[in-house]
Amino acid sequence: MIAVELPMKAFYRLLAYARPHRSRLASAFIAMVVYGAASAGLAALIQPIFDEVLPNRSNVAAIAVVIIAVYVIKGVGAYLSSYLMADVGQRVVRDIRNSLFRHILGQSASFFGVRTTGKLMSRIVNDVGQVQHGVSQTLGDLSRESLALIGYVSLLFYYDAQLALLCLTGAPVVVYPLVRFGQRIRRTTRWSQEAVEKITHIGTEAFTGHRIVKAFSAERREAEKFEHASQHLYRTNMKVTSVISVLPPLMELIGGIAFAGALWYGSQEIASGRLTTGEFTAFIAVLFLIYGPARKLSRVNANLQQAIAASERIFEIMDTHSEVVDVPNASVLEPLNEGVEFRDVAFAYRNDSNDATLQDVSFTVPVGKTLAIVGRSGAGKTTLVNLLPRFYDVSSGVILIDGQNIQEVTLESLRSQIGIVTQETVLFDDSVAANIAFGRPGASQKEIELAARVARAHEFISMLPKGYDTFIGERGQLLSGGQRQRLAIARALLRDSPLLILDEATSSLDSESEMLVQDALSALMLDRTCFVIAHRLSTVRRADMIIVLEDGCIVEVGTHDDLLAHGGPYAKLYELQFKDDSSDAASSTSEILR
Ligand SMILES: Nc1ncnc2c1ncn2[C@@H]1O[C@H](COP(=O)(O)OP(=O)(O)OP(=O)(O)O)[C@@H](O)[C@H]1O
Ligand SMILES: [Mg+2]
Repeated sequence: MIAVELPMKAFYRLLAYARPHRSRLASAFIAMVVYGAASAGLAALIQPIFDEVLPNRSNVAAIAVVIIAVYVIKGVGAYLSSYLMADVGQRVVRDIRNSLFRHILGQSASFFGVRTTGKLMSRIVNDVGQVQHGVSQTLGDLSRESLALIGYVSLLFYYDAQLALLCLTGAPVVVYPLVRFGQRIRRTTRWSQEAVEKITHIGTEAFTGHRIVKAFSAERREAEKFEHASQHLYRTNMKVTSVISVLPPLMELIGGIAFAGALWYGSQEIASGRLTTGEFTAFIAVLFLIYGPARKLSRVNANLQQAIAASERIFEIMDTHSEVVDVPNASVLEPLNEGVEFRDVAFAYRNDSNDATLQDVSFTVPVGKTLAIVGRSGAGKTTLVNLLPRFYDVSSGVILIDGQNIQEVTLESLRSQIGIVTQETVLFDDSVAANIAFGRPGASQKEIELAARVARAHEFISMLPKGYDTFIGERGQLLSGGQRQRLAIARALLRDSPLLILDEATSSLDSESEMLVQDALSALMLDRTCFVIAHRLSTVRRADMIIVLEDGCIVEVGTHDDLLAHGGPYAKLYELQFKDDSSDAASSTSEILR
């Protein structure tokens, strides 16, 4: 039972997307009724042609005109109905695709942690495409051909109810394999979509990582992985095809049997005088005409099953809710003027795991001050700062901005106060200007340029072939590492938010590039409240306060000099991580003088 209920649910959900377009649907339906009536009308002409027009040679011209007129009407009905239905189908698919994209983008970081870009893209492109194929092509066929079928069957009954009934007893023979095949098709389509997803995933990973793939001479391995998945897709697709290809000949065979039966029965009816030759000819002709819609309908079911299989996969994602959302009546966070407080914060990436990534984290950063977070790799530094813009919500404890729990304010007002420069620079395949203005789409060219100047990026941007209009490639790969970082800093500068999160890149740049980035960062941090994950001596020295994280717990708090004098974990970390930053220290003479 469940097996039947579930697909219907997906089907109704698909239909719900058509609701906003119901006026178009209604027009399409009218066009279909016209088409169906015209089809039946044409069939109805057969009998008078055989019984009256041909034997008596009367009204030939008139009937010819009528035939052409009915064909024109039928044609208009067919055109309008398929155009309008396809339009509704395309609109439905467009709406599904848009809401799927919105939905996915709204999910939390943990959602993306377990799903790859390739797989998500596959849902948006391939599964929605499969639905499109099913919906736009078949919805029209379904209703139009059903109507034509109803018209034809009524005619059969009109000619000879008994004979019609006899023919219809064969209907279950037609319907049963259709239903059974439908289930098969749905199942195999699911496999096929999964295989497509895998292919997209392998392709996306290999292409985005093309340098590493080549550097490690893994092209062959990647290609083999792809070919393996490709072969799997081929086989599943052929399974679907083998089922679908059986349908038309099967329908034809069943039609042939019906024809033979009708011939045998009809010859007796004619002999006994209950049926005229014209009536019988018309009956057989209609039987042949039925074959068209019946064959199309058999394919409709197959297509529909494919659409349902794909839509189930879409709805699976739509039903996954991991969004960080506003609480009801969330207030708007006013611009920062006191400070940020973490109070007994604990956080675990998985709800079911006992070992928390962060525990007992409490500290306060007054407005305008800089907090440096230091600790070994994997200590939980990035995790900690990710809680502030609510990429993840705390497992327990609270984070307060000006005394307000950040979970009780709107996400938009919260995030608009926070500028972020991440550990790995993320840029978009767009112009330099658009990348800088990403956080403030309305910014003027002048403002963009000012931000770039302050971020020490203007000089290299002016040397680019098209200056600020140069496209920088996917993830900014046409730029150097230091250039990318300075663009990211310019972006944060233009955003001009009072709170700044800075996850210093661990990869070191050459000293000149490093100096430029450091200069840019100093400009960015000026007059802001900063959370800095520090990997460089110059940054920790500049901080007003340092917290040392170890396994997710704060083990020390203080200034650089205090902590160094104290000889605790920070002093050890200093020996390990910062002391070798001599070039860094030397370049920041101004700091030593300070
Ligand atoms: N998305 C995630 N899902 C599950 N666990 C994660 C996730 N991100 C990080 N972790 C784990 O949480 C711990 C802390 O990671 P985090 O990224 O905060 O370290 P970090 O202090 O920033 O290190 P680094 O200095 O190397 O950047 C690590 O043990 C890591 O394996
Ligand atoms: Mg980190």
